[in-house]
Amino acid sequence: MGSSLSTWRQPLVDKARRSAFVCQQCAHAAPRWLGQCPGCGAWNSLVEEALAAPRPRGARAATAPGATPQPLAAVSAGQALRRTTGLGELDRVLGGGLVAGSVVLVGGDPGIGKSTLALQACGALARQGVPVLYVAGEESPEQVRLRADRLGMAEAGVLVVAETAAEAVADAIEAVRPAAVVIDSIQTLHTAALGSAPGSVGQVRESAALLVARAKASRVACFLVGHVTKEGTLAGPRVLEHLVDTVLYFEGDAGHALRILRAVKNRFGSTNEVAVFEMGERGLAEVPNPSAAFLAERPRGAAGSAVLATLEGSRPVLVEIQALVSRSTLAMPRRTAIGLDGGRVALLLAVLEKRMRLVLHDQDVFLNVAGGLRVEEPAADLAVVAAVASSARGRPLPADVVVWGEVGLTGEVRAVGRADARLREAARQGFRRCILPAGSASGLDVADGVRAAGVAALDQLFTALGLA
Ligand code: TYD
Ligand code: MG
Repeated sequence: MGSSLSTWRQPLVDKARRSAFVCQQCAHAAPRWLGQCPGCGAWNSLVEEALAAPRPRGARAATAPGATPQPLAAVSAGQALRRTTGLGELDRVLGGGLVAGSVVLVGGDPGIGKSTLALQACGALARQGVPVLYVAGEESPEQVRLRADRLGMAEAGVLVVAETAAEAVADAIEAVRPAAVVIDSIQTLHTAALGSAPGSVGQVRESAALLVARAKASRVACFLVGHVTKEGTLAGPRVLEHLVDTVLYFEGDAGHALRILRAVKNRFGSTNEVAVFEMGERGLAEVPNPSAAFLAERPRGAAGSAVLATLEGSRPVLVEIQALVSRSTLAMPRRTAIGLDGGRVALLLAVLEKRMRLVLHDQDVFLNVAGGLRVEEPAADLAVVAAVASSARGRPLPADVVVWGEVGLTGEVRAVGRADARLREAARQGFRRCILPAGSASGLDVADGVRAAGVAALDQLFTALGLA
């Protein structure tokens, strides 16, 4: 609790700074930080917030001029204000380009490649003649220059400033008037309106709020880079998410070159769109064929490996689901699922045990989505079941088969959407056979040289895969 110590030593009411600690649950305001809110009893809910300057005595409450209502049809949608960043995959997750005046939060673990992406986007924009400003809070301009050299974009005409005071950054934006600005990172900014240390929740939020307001006013597109804490939330938790228009998360294994950029919120496009990049010697390269990248290291003829056709946003992607079932020495056998929902995996193991009489209660079960992708879709069920059964029986699955479908509690296989798109992707990657829910297989018997076999229940899946 390092930050609480520094706030503890402040005078009770900081008149000069005019800030208060406000409970994020019940809005109770206290003059200093407290561990527990006296208003509602919530723990760790007090966050420092700036107070509005007091109104002079006798002054009437200022009434805003008031916006005049206008017909919705008369409002221009501002289509023309979307511009390409120059990085196709980034455009895709942004919903087709960068919208003027929008604020994009880029979150991710330290070292995943956020600064690299941000600088590459700056370079690509600058190359189109778009004025961009890179605000380095963590690195010196020299370090940014070194990185730019490495990325081969030193001549791109990007403006850089090393600054951590939010007010100074806002002034720089107003002076330079760029079309886009990158703040790397939002956690390093601080505002004079608050007394707490940089990086505290209040500082992150107030600084971001100040910049967002100024960026919106001058129609500057703004990228805020933020680190994710161990718990998986942005430090300065969810507070930033509703302040911004778009939230992108950078995911991936530290030990793996593939990086996935995912939109989790987007006011200007669809969410759950993903971009796939590969980190190389000269920065992030777009991966034109993600399925091939995810399947690159797939072992041939090994038990416990199944290929799934999943949908990432609008795009079908093939990934490998790996399972290892081995005899447990523990009273409570281990169940580990990386890249899959643990609760869903437990459910599927129970269905296998009960409906297919596969003995798993004395076995450790490990599951992994190869390549560091996270698969949330229920369509992964059938591939998980196939991989687990394959490992448990010690029988490899046919190498030319792609599987997808949702599994219900009675062992029935339920239909999932976009069967045609998944089938076409399987064909494109050279697979010969797809096993999919019977409910979505009608009219799809053979397409593009791939045979589609519908299954209605797990016993049919086992028969089709030679696991029965
Ligand atoms: P960085 O963008 O600094 O991560 P973040 O801002 O999310 O903390 O990425 C740092 C990692 O990327 C670091 O381990 C080095 C690696 N890297 C490359 O492999 N190639 C490159 O061209 C660059 C610039 C970085
Ligand atoms: Mg960084």
